[in-house]
Amino acid sequence: MVKKAFIFDLDGVIVDTAKFHFIAWQRLAASLEIKFTEHENEQLKGVSRVHSLQKILEWGNIEISPDVFQAKMDQKNEEYLDLIKSLDTSDIMPGVHDFLLNLKEQEQPIALGSASKNARPILKKLGILHLFEVIVDGTNVTEAKPDPEVFLHASRQLNFAVQESIVFEDSVAGVQAANAAGMISIGLGEKKILHEADEVFTHFTDMPKDYINTLLSKKK
Ligand code: BG6
Ligand code: MG
Repeated sequence: MVKKAFIFDLDGVIVDTAKFHFIAWQRLAASLEIKFTEHENEQLKGVSRVHSLQKILEWGNIEISPDVFQAKMDQKNEEYLDLIKSLDTSDIMPGVHDFLLNLKEQEQPIALGSASKNARPILKKLGILHLFEVIVDGTNVTEAKPDPEVFLHASRQLNFAVQESIVFEDSVAGVQAANAAGMISIGLGEKKILHEADEVFTHFTDMPKDYINTLLSKKK
């Protein structure tokens, strides 16, 4: 049977946490009197915590000391962790659980490729940690998306070539990272935002019934 490496982003693809990152960053920006709307937020999706704060400070044209920078990052993460306290299986994005189970049934390898340092505890909360053979997250990469590092690590650890790897992403930076890696990029979200992806669906539930088979024969 043909096999491919199926690599999933976490926030906004597997779980509906993108809205909580947004709220926490918005509060943080407000504390510095920096404008932060959906428009700014879109540019932070898929971007690591440290790069996100750097971008917000650039937008506000503000400089802070390394100590304050660290304190602001800690503050954002505490707010975020507080917002996701009660996260459970009901927060898994529509169709994702079935999609993962179908892949498992077909013995297809599954990896996580996320910028988040909170990835493992979140997958545990959702009860799906065991479905991932490989986890590459914010604790094991140095370069932020759109750099392809996170996805290259994931495919390498699964022992697959980049042409045999498929990435699921909700962010512009993540789609660009998958494309830069030479992998098939499947966008989850709005077509007008994720137009660089090879294909875009609103949700996993919008994919055709035999879409896994389509992906297994898909070429970049
Ligand atoms: C990405 C999110 O998955 O992870 C970003 O899209 C977030 O919004 C980044 O900033 C880092 O996450 P964390 O959980 O380590 O702060
Ligand atoms: Mg994401």
